[in-house]
Amino acid sequence: MNIPDDAFYRLLSKALRERSGETLTRVLYRALRQAILDGRLQAHSRLPGSRTLAQELSLSRNTVNAVLDQLTTEGYLLRDRQGSRVASLPSAAAEEPTEAEFRLPARLKALPTGTRRDSPAFAFTPGTPAVNYFPLPLWRRLIDRVLREEGHALLGYGESAGERPLREAIARHLALSRGIHCEAGQVIITEGALEGLNLCTQLLSESGQLAWLEDPGYAGARSAFVARGLQIEGMEIDEEGMQFADHTARSPRLIFTSPSHQFPLGSLMSAARRLALLQFAHSTGAWIIEDDYDSEFRYSSEPIPAMLGMQPDAPVVYLGTFSKTLFPSLRIGFVVMPKALAKAMQPAIHSLLRGGHRTEQLALAHFIEEGHYARHLASMRRLYRKRQGQLRDALKQELTHPHTVSGGEGGMHLTVHLEGIDDSWVAQAARQYQLAPAALSRYYLDPASGKTGLVLGYGNTSASRFASAIRTLNKLITQALSQSGQG
Ligand SMILES: Cc1ncc(COP(=O)(O)O)c(C=O)c1O
Repeated sequence: MNIPDDAFYRLLSKALRERSGETLTRVLYRALRQAILDGRLQAHSRLPGSRTLAQELSLSRNTVNAVLDQLTTEGYLLRDRQGSRVASLPSAAAEEPTEAEFRLPARLKALPTGTRRDSPAFAFTPGTPAVNYFPLPLWRRLIDRVLREEGHALLGYGESAGERPLREAIARHLALSRGIHCEAGQVIITEGALEGLNLCTQLLSESGQLAWLEDPGYAGARSAFVARGLQIEGMEIDEEGMQFADHTARSPRLIFTSPSHQFPLGSLMSAARRLALLQFAHSTGAWIIEDDYDSEFRYSSEPIPAMLGMQPDAPVVYLGTFSKTLFPSLRIGFVVMPKALAKAMQPAIHSLLRGGHRTEQLALAHFIEEGHYARHLASMRRLYRKRQGQLRDALKQELTHPHTVSGGEGGMHLTVHLEGIDDSWVAQAARQYQLAPAALSRYYLDPASGKTGLVLGYGNTSASRFASAIRTLNKLITQALSQSGQG
């Protein structure tokens, strides 16, 4: 068998000379391993003894022996009384695989695209709150306090469903603000509402079942349902919220809705429709997933109580999030389940979740219990109410193209309907001006349905930017229309 020749020693010596900051052991180990992997040292060939190797390479025998031992432990070398032999290994993959060789499972091809998240500095980003108003010094103090009080005890796993003090604080807050009377045991903390949605989809449906989705609607719901392999039926929206017929050929297993402030059109689901939907879900064995993402921000009336609280045994799982009321990178949301469901799902939740982010969860519990949350909500409500009015004024003054505005009585965005524009082009072109409106068409199941416009988030945008930003969008819309021959 071929014993390493001069060329081989030269290669090793070169690697050892050119090492930068790595130990001799490490360099020799990597050079020998690579020579074995790429076949320069053939299977079954014998290496010289450690004394010879050490002399040829001007290394200590200890170093050489440490490397030979390591390669033997990992199975690259075999050692016997006569020394070391190269093991026979399956040949390593010749080339790095290309992107094209990796394929998504077929069902995931239907995942919505273009759900890019922007930095808060881009004006009009939908769904981003006024993060610069968040009381950071107070938050830092609460985090410090939790770490000081809890110490190392906080570093182990927490409860799967999240920290109990936070679940208790959420239950108390929901009773006051959302008309939901629940116990901490019904609340499950998740990594934002999106994880809650994925969890509920996982727990409550089987692949192949039917799910109703608002159309247009929240792209995250579509992602969760597509990933589960559900069949999706889009439900149109009118001023009373999601439309549906209670005599359908095939009943859905899941019904996703945002009844308090439909995303992105802003309708408020009427009491009559809520009750009809609850009745329908009851009689067909469906579950309603109620997305209550920004209902704390209502400006012209009291907050509308959630569907979950409308009946004691409502077939509803409720999704809440702190992404809009505090800040998105907190990644804390929650699910509230009816009592019997929460009990039945407990073992599964225990298996699927691990809790975590315990410091932030406990700091948030203090933030709520000490009244900071209610105060922050009140001050953000005032800010957003004002901004919404200012944005409506700017649209009236600066947007010369025929349009209508929807978006409802609250929230952090307005939806501007503009017929016949290439809204994806406008949204993309706006980015060079640090503007990030979303194309309305992309919230439809069929983005080519011809329903076009722009969704303008005002949560993160100071009113002083509105007039000039709308003027810029107006110009881009003119450009888009002239490119399509309509200008
Ligand atoms: C309509 C709607 N629902 C729910 C969410 C969930 O947010 P998160 O996963 O950040 O809690 C969002 C976020 O953009 C949203 O727009």
